[in-house]
Amino acid sequence: MDSTSHDTLLIIDFGSQVTQLIARRLRELNVYCEIHPYQTVTMEHVRAIAPKAIVFSGGPDSVTREGSPRAPQEIFEYGVPILGICYGQQVMMQQLGGRVVSGEGTAEFGRAYVQPSDARLDLLQGWFLDGTGREQVWMSHGDHVDALAPGFEVFGTSPGAPFAITADPARQFYAVQFHPEVHHTPNGATLYENFVRLAGFKGDWTMGAYREEAVARIRDQIGDSHVICALSGGVDSSVAAALIHEAVGDQLTCVFVDHGLLRLNEAEEVVGMFRDHMNLQVIHAQEQELFLGKLDGVSDPETKRKIIGGLFIDVFQKYADGIDGAEFLAQGTLYPDVIESVSFSGGPSVTIKSHHNVGGLPEKMGLKLVEPLRELFKDEVRALGRELGLPASFIGRHPFPGPGLAIRCPGEITRQKLDILRKADAVYIDQIRRHGLYDEIWQAFVAILPVRTVGVMGDGRTYDYACALRAVTSVDGMTADYYPFSHDFLGETATRIINEVKGINRVTYDITSKPPGTIEWE
Ligand code: XMP
Repeated sequence: MDSTSHDTLLIIDFGSQVTQLIARRLRELNVYCEIHPYQTVTMEHVRAIAPKAIVFSGGPDSVTREGSPRAPQEIFEYGVPILGICYGQQVMMQQLGGRVVSGEGTAEFGRAYVQPSDARLDLLQGWFLDGTGREQVWMSHGDHVDALAPGFEVFGTSPGAPFAITADPARQFYAVQFHPEVHHTPNGATLYENFVRLAGFKGDWTMGAYREEAVARIRDQIGDSHVICALSGGVDSSVAAALIHEAVGDQLTCVFVDHGLLRLNEAEEVVGMFRDHMNLQVIHAQEQELFLGKLDGVSDPETKRKIIGGLFIDVFQKYADGIDGAEFLAQGTLYPDVIESVSFSGGPSVTIKSHHNVGGLPEKMGLKLVEPLRELFKDEVRALGRELGLPASFIGRHPFPGPGLAIRCPGEITRQKLDILRKADAVYIDQIRRHGLYDEIWQAFVAILPVRTVGVMGDGRTYDYACALRAVTSVDGMTADYYPFSHDFLGETATRIINEVKGINRVTYDITSKPPGTIEWE
């Protein structure tokens, strides 16, 4: 996004775990904001972004340590309102001539209550009104401010933070010790709302406006060339395809790779919607034989993932080669993938699973990238999808992994097992929908287990597969908890699966959270 086309707020990231939540709260207020790691923020950079206000995030370091992160000193002369959160508050104090101390008695973690001081502050409009005269906030700090910088006053205190809310109202510098962006500061959004109002934001970041601008930008970028897009049926690639189609029409060709590991009727639904209802050019690549052939006899999860990932690239390339003049590849990259995070550990993290994606494609194929969702968070992508007329049922779909049912079929994959799995999964999802639970659940699916168990149906003995139902709640898939279905629901679902799906005679429910489990079984 061209930062000049909207009011922009700059968030300087000092490495807090929750910096993205600051951006979420601001975007909810229709404020366009960008997160930049403190290492990259020079005054030249700030002037190029031309922010109307700045937020300093929290961070894990201590400003009392020599060499710890700072903001450029000149930023305080730039003339826009600044809000410092936690470490950001301490950076402000330290750089503006106050004092921060660490050591015994300075730390405070978890829930705390802030009391107002006598003086009034515009930033606190709507606070301290519920009769208790105090506000619950979330604290997570090791150090605290010990002496205010010149010009600052105290507007709120907590038992562990005598300077919980401070400000220099004349310069519109605000600095708080707690985290207003987290859920556990129930009235925190009001502070952000007040801050952007005081900074004069118009709230001009809406999906309707974004759609128009994005369309113009895509037209500009693509010109007369051709774009190809790997359509997975997931929300991101679907919204990206719909948006690019609106911009350049038939200059877009989508390839839907059918690897034989899709859910019941999935290929028909996705291809049908995009090709028949939305008039996109969609190639339905029927490559089931290829994928299932190569997976024959393979049971190791990482080997499965690598085979599928490699074949996917080969297949996509094969179809793309047949499209004349393709110069661009569309990808549904989202803002959380783009934000360069501040890393303090520096070490490589462990690979738990090699994720299937098409990240390596552009270099391999010599294509330029179109990434029209790069500035958006997931819920903004959904809002844009609605704006573009994608059906609500499509936009609210649970995520589905690239390797598909392969990773829900531990052990060897056979066509028979896939067939049983597809039917069981369809019954399970139907149950969830019938009970009105689909939208409460982040993701739900069946895994078919590599064991057969003995049962009795009618007067006969059965020896069929066992399956596991999985349903989790999550915000981003990074952590998850199992969904607490009622026993009645589970009993009814087990009965339906066993009655309606030949090949399964035992149903279990997976109650593992993530961590220690993962959402998928492989
Ligand atoms: P795990 O199993 O790692 O999954 O807890 C977290 C989320 O990621 C999805 N997932 C994938 N998505 N390609 C994808 O596009 C993959 O290879 C892949 N593996 C897991 C999973 O469904 C869950 O939503």
